[in-house]
Amino acid sequence: MLRSGQGRAHMSGLVGAIDQGTTSSRFLVFDGEGREVARHQIPHAQGLPRPGFVEHDAIEIRDHVEACAAEALRKAGLRAADLACIGLTNQRETVVLWNPRTGEPWAPAIVWQDTRTADLVHDLERRGLGPMLRARTGLPPATYFSAGKIRWLLDHVPGLRDAAARGDVLCGTIDAWVVWNLTGGPGGGVHITDVTNASRTQLMGIDSLDWDDELLGIFGIPRQILPRIVSSNGDLGAVVAGRSALAGVPITAILGDQQAAMVGHGCTEPGLAKNTYGTGNFLLQNTGPVPAQSAHGLLTTVCYRFGDESAAFALEGSIAVTGSAVQWLRDQLGIIGSAAEVEGLAGQVEDAGGVSFVPAFSGLFAPYWRPDARGLICGLSRFSNKAHLARATLESICFQTRDVVEAMNADAGIAMTRLDVDGGAAANDLLMQMQADILGIPVVRPKQLEVTAFGAARAAAMVSGGFATSADRTRGGRVFEPGIDSDRREKAYAGWKRAVARALDAGSG
Ligand SMILES: Nc1ncnc2c1ncn2[C@@H]1O[C@H](COP(=O)(O)OP(=O)(O)OP(=O)(O)O)[C@@H](O)[C@H]1O
Ligand SMILES: [Mg+2]
Repeated sequence: MLRSGQGRAHMSGLVGAIDQGTTSSRFLVFDGEGREVARHQIPHAQGLPRPGFVEHDAIEIRDHVEACAAEALRKAGLRAADLACIGLTNQRETVVLWNPRTGEPWAPAIVWQDTRTADLVHDLERRGLGPMLRARTGLPPATYFSAGKIRWLLDHVPGLRDAAARGDVLCGTIDAWVVWNLTGGPGGGVHITDVTNASRTQLMGIDSLDWDDELLGIFGIPRQILPRIVSSNGDLGAVVAGRSALAGVPITAILGDQQAAMVGHGCTEPGLAKNTYGTGNFLLQNTGPVPAQSAHGLLTTVCYRFGDESAAFALEGSIAVTGSAVQWLRDQLGIIGSAAEVEGLAGQVEDAGGVSFVPAFSGLFAPYWRPDARGLICGLSRFSNKAHLARATLESICFQTRDVVEAMNADAGIAMTRLDVDGGAAANDLLMQMQADILGIPVVRPKQLEVTAFGAARAAAMVSGGFATSADRTRGGRVFEPGIDSDRREKAYAGWKRAVARALDAGSG
């Protein structure tokens, strides 16, 4: 994999990473050895105006990115001039449409979890476009991807199509929005998106790596509102001089968050895989220079494209609701005060007491791809209490991961022998032990869980020599070995499958 710095010129100076996530924005600074030297994080509002709708305020996101950078630098006594470069990583698929003259968004950003486009997806299926979309983009018809969300805004925001025809609309995923603002906004902002983010829109050909006219026609989206697709690293632009805490710093990497985590883990060879436990869970496996098609409900996606090299691809199992199910226990049910408290509560009981929880809040993603599925809790008795529900929530994270691992093994024809993990919920020891038990393979957790930001910084640093001993950054953590016998494991998993079958049937439509 990546060599150590011994006898090799590596970059000098510090590297910044913007991690614009679903629930918060972060800015981290790493030194030339890939060690974290500063961090600041600010959560943003989750707009939930109607069932199925999930929205973000793009202006709030823009301002939080700036504030995180300013505050992280201030805490470490640093200035923009101390940064050699920055990398950007972001929540994927979420779309913003804005007015390039004013910099104002035309509407709230539609978030990847939002299911308002279910009818459109149903229509694509009905017209028999599923196989063509899968083959052309690597993605099935689903509410998850950007194209339907852009279409919805063009159809529902009054006057937007006319504005687009006048040149008053730019569109992009969050990376495009953040970069356009950092590089000058209305005063000359650069309108670009990286190829990993573009591969999540369902408007890019997975073979051509360019916007596809037939897809643009199907979704009714004018090409001129879309950003230019660029590689995941290189000289991509510079933060505009002026008031920004990052003024003048070159932007040398852009990657979707899951792809950045792949780079952070060093999954840069075919066969290497990682699983990130955040708002959702995302298991990706590098498949090398050819886009592999899944026969078991996984996505084909671009893993990264470094500079002028050819792109590397990945198979991906995306799970919409994992850490956000823990947030649901906290915010909607109020049975915990913080996400971390779920570990103590679930640890009060030996098992879930027969309770199964399928958190299909956004339908079910991989490997089912059923937008009509809805969440359910079953197996309740008078004995059930909040500890059982907390435990069932953690189990749901592990069982959903097992569903995806089964699909990955079936596609690869060989079984995974270990699971490398990261993300906020991976800090939960009980969850990691349960995951090892439910998979029957070791779960390997690095010390540094901010692998997403680290990957963006690593990709950015590569442009000027790379980190020195960066290969070690995600090591040195803890291994969780499976501790239950296979009878118990398979019986529990069969119970989960029964619950999923009912969730597939739980929608009202
Ligand atoms: N100890 C814990 N046990 C279980 N879940 C946890 C724990 N700590 C955090 N979480 C969950 O992990 C998620 C936060 O992790 P992380 O910050 O990696 O998420 P993320 O998906 O990267 O967020 P974003 O999309 O905003 O970047 C939250 O959904 C939270 O509920
Ligand atoms: Mg994240």
